[in-house]
Amino acid sequence: MATIQEKIQDLKARQEKVKQGGGAKRIEKQHASGKLTARERVEKLLDPGTFVELDQFVHHRCTNFGMEKEEAPGEGVVTGYGTVDGRLVYVFAQDFTVVGGSLGEMHAAKICKVQDLAVKMGAPLVGLNDSGGARIQEAVDALSGYGKIFYRNTLASGVIPQISVIMGPCAGGAVYSPALTDFIFMVKNTSQMFITGPQVIKSVTAEEVTAEALGGAMTHNTVSGVAHFAAENDDNCMEQVRYLLSFLPSNNLEDAPVQETGDDPNRMDASLNTMLPDNPNMPYNMKDVIAKIVDNGEFYEVHEHYAQNIITCFARFDGQTVGIIANQPSVMAGCLDVNASDKSARFIRFCDAFNIPLVNLVDVPGFLPGTSQEYGGIIRHGAKMLYAYSEATVPKVTVITRKAYGGSYLAMCSQDLGADQVLAWPSAEIAVMGPAGAANIIFKGDPAAKEKTDKYVEEFATPYKAAERGFVDIVIEPAETRPRIITALNMLASKRETRPAKKHGNIPL
Ligand code: HXC
Repeated sequence: MATIQEKIQDLKARQEKVKQGGGAKRIEKQHASGKLTARERVEKLLDPGTFVELDQFVHHRCTNFGMEKEEAPGEGVVTGYGTVDGRLVYVFAQDFTVVGGSLGEMHAAKICKVQDLAVKMGAPLVGLNDSGGARIQEAVDALSGYGKIFYRNTLASGVIPQISVIMGPCAGGAVYSPALTDFIFMVKNTSQMFITGPQVIKSVTAEEVTAEALGGAMTHNTVSGVAHFAAENDDNCMEQVRYLLSFLPSNNLEDAPVQETGDDPNRMDASLNTMLPDNPNMPYNMKDVIAKIVDNGEFYEVHEHYAQNIITCFARFDGQTVGIIANQPSVMAGCLDVNASDKSARFIRFCDAFNIPLVNLVDVPGFLPGTSQEYGGIIRHGAKMLYAYSEATVPKVTVITRKAYGGSYLAMCSQDLGADQVLAWPSAEIAVMGPAGAANIIFKGDPAAKEKTDKYVEEFATPYKAAERGFVDIVIEPAETRPRIITALNMLASKRETRPAKKHGNIPL
């Protein structure tokens, strides 16, 4: 019979074997392809020494196609919990060195366990994905495993932040769990996402495409909008995930952590008074405005590379996290289109679900006209913004810097869509449409068209018609934007807004 000491040695040997994953050769291959191993990634993500591993000895029970001989240490996924900046976070990291990180019944069971724990404890879940998808040998058991994960992703949505990180080739089922989560990070050059890979595409449609062009980090960050963040490498990616978490509450019942940023809440910035060109048709960079008003000029863009005509970002005002939605006059004049509507509506809903106040910076000439937008369903997509803003009960502060025309004025969170405080710069132009468009319609053929258009500009291309009706609460000097927003957010700290009970709404999709 083994002694206690021998049993302890046996435990250590077993643990060591699991830590070796798929073995030295496969680890070498992983490193050679520019990737860290699952365990190295977890170590980088969490505060040093805080990782507690669960289910080290879980093993598959597949006997098909020689799988009974496959040891699969750790079942191809490392799971557990630790802290990020001292706050509890759950994590799973697929281990590509073990059966290609493929997902079978017990691999899925390990992931489901941390999903359940994260919801129960009200802590974010970060999934590090590096997987060949459903484990082919496990057939329907693998599919069932994915189904269980998708189901939990959906139940956890809006309860805890769910962050997916794509750190290798992810195909088939391996992409739908990330798609159900709040944010997707991808690592440049080493990660891909697709439903069907290049070989399948070639055999079905004869189309030839490389894996990178089909589903690489920049494809999904710029073209499809599937991914929200792009990282240079695994190290940089883990740093970015930690940074994102710093802005977020742990769950939907908490507020985001307040950070001591050291930036004076009463700080004015005179340069904002000269930021806008006198000619309203000239662009300026809204990111310069954001940098001047938020704490220490620091903000973190979500979907930085996608639909750049609108900016969505996290930042802080007097240490408090906010979500900023801002038109970008230097890209497509800041028009709203299908992609910008999707991008912002989803961001608004995330912020609302997690008690993050919204600050809207408005300079929008309208919805982008044209058949491609109409055929693409701009009515359906634009409606998402109206819906998301109207539905949101978090504090909503709107600042109109310049144009706010027509439906896009409403879509950027006007008072009627529930903005709690609407501030406008003296340069604001709030009307049904711009002067040129208006002149074309109501003064067409009128000999006095020129004078009437000038009168229209004077009377309507201002904040004062809206202020007369109370749709603008305060007309402010641009320089005082930061203290005005902070005062408004402080005033709104106790905001409570209830809505009629319902199972759920039916946002246009
Ligand atoms: C079992 C798998 C596997 C899988 C990879 N492996 N994918 N084992 N099931 N799905 C194993 C390989 O046999 C190999 O084992 C090891 O993992 C590494 O794989 P390689 O092919 O050598 O690596 P690489 O050349 O880097 O190619 C990686 C890859 C490729 C692009 C991911 O392996 C691949 O195309 N895999 C299949 C992807 C796929 O079609 N999955 C099913 C999707 S359908 P050894 O022992 O040699 O190291 C799906 C359905 C769910 O997921 C749908 C739900 C909605």
